[in-house]
Amino acid sequence: MTSEPLTTAGNAEDPLFDPFAEGFTDDPYTQYARLRETAPVHENPFGFWVASGHDDVSALLRSGASVEMRNVTAFDAAGQDQAGQSAMPATDDVSMLHRDPPDHTRLRRLVQKAFTPRAIKALEPRIAELTDGMLDEIADAASVDLVPTLAFPLPFAVIAEMLGTPPTDHARVRDLSGTAVRALEPVNDEDVMSAIVAAQEELVGITAEMIAWKRGHPADDLLTALIHAEEDGDMLSEDELVAQVLLLYIAGHETTVNLLSGGTVALLRHPDQLAALRADPALMPGAVEELLRYDSPVQASGRVTLEPMVLGGVEIPAGAFVMALLGSANRDERRFGPDAGELRVDREDAHHHVSFGAGPHHCLGAALARLEARVVFERMLSRFPALALDGEVRWNGRINLRGPASVPVTVRP
Ligand code: HEM
Repeated sequence: MTSEPLTTAGNAEDPLFDPFAEGFTDDPYTQYARLRETAPVHENPFGFWVASGHDDVSALLRSGASVEMRNVTAFDAAGQDQAGQSAMPATDDVSMLHRDPPDHTRLRRLVQKAFTPRAIKALEPRIAELTDGMLDEIADAASVDLVPTLAFPLPFAVIAEMLGTPPTDHARVRDLSGTAVRALEPVNDEDVMSAIVAAQEELVGITAEMIAWKRGHPADDLLTALIHAEEDGDMLSEDELVAQVLLLYIAGHETTVNLLSGGTVALLRHPDQLAALRADPALMPGAVEELLRYDSPVQASGRVTLEPMVLGGVEIPAGAFVMALLGSANRDERRFGPDAGELRVDREDAHHHVSFGAGPHHCLGAALARLEARVVFERMLSRFPALALDGEVRWNGRINLRGPASVPVTVRP
């Protein structure tokens, strides 16, 4: 392995990083390994830059680089790159995820009260109760898919209860959010792009209706608190209110589902690690960090340089869109050692992963996601001592919020 970049620009023949390549969404890690070795920071012919090593990804996320896509000059207003080959969907999203200070600071402050360690800890009994109810439902099944029965409904129910959403058509929201999150990844198909825009619009409509309903049914929940922030102090515009609620609703489940399902797959594919964890339950908190590191539920995060920036010895111009490959940074041998590609539930520095990002936009829901994962893995493993894969795991085909679409298992011997 060399630490010197061999090349800094991909071309049509060898883009270096090609998220549209056959098989990439099933296994991105082979491409990542080659990138870290040959071109850790480079400009892609698809119209964006890529950073793949742990140090460079961390430095980018902690820098003052912008999250506001309107600062991108490499893409035109329609979100197309100059060569017309791929695009990041254009967005005027006013959620905190896509705002720089001072808006970001104000918006995050309004929401973060609900996510303090104390507030999250108080949710544990309810999360355990919800988990047990879902495990009861599958306990007698001969074979069951863990995604629709546990990995998806658990985080969905938790965020819905925190927000205090009215009884909505959950299946519809699930369908729409699965499409809408593809706004966070490059897209090379106009039909997919249109579907993303349509799903986002419909979700905005559903969220606005949810807020209107909540105004008539106030309660001790997050939706009511945010509505008060909008009504009371001129702290939040109506558009901003809708955008923060939608962000929480989607971020609350579309990410954690990948940790619960991908984490289960990782454990079941490594029986020695699963046995070590079963033998010593005190390993669980560290194991959750290792599962986050090993198969990052969010694979990438985007930034726009506001001024020229040197990353990994390569100068990136101002106005460039840079994709920070979190999933690759988490497998960086220079950070995690030569066995970075292996799952080790007792790895001591696993928590240095960047699965929750870094810097000012570090995941607001990290403590909640960790709690949900610990509760689910603890209860699922102790309830089902013979848990095993029962067929082929299918991946969801996404570049960014990547995880299993189905995890068939048997829960009984
Ligand atoms: C931000 C990952 C669960 C709410 C982020 C970011 C990452 C991330 C990588 C930063 C994006 C960036 O810098 O561009 C994850 C993962 C999760 C998870 C891997 C589960 C395993 C959750 C949950 C919630 C949540 C459960 C809320 C209920 C948020 C919010 C932000 C965020 C509000 C935006 C923070 C900001 O812009 O300041 N998440 N997340 N996340 N996450 Fe999570």
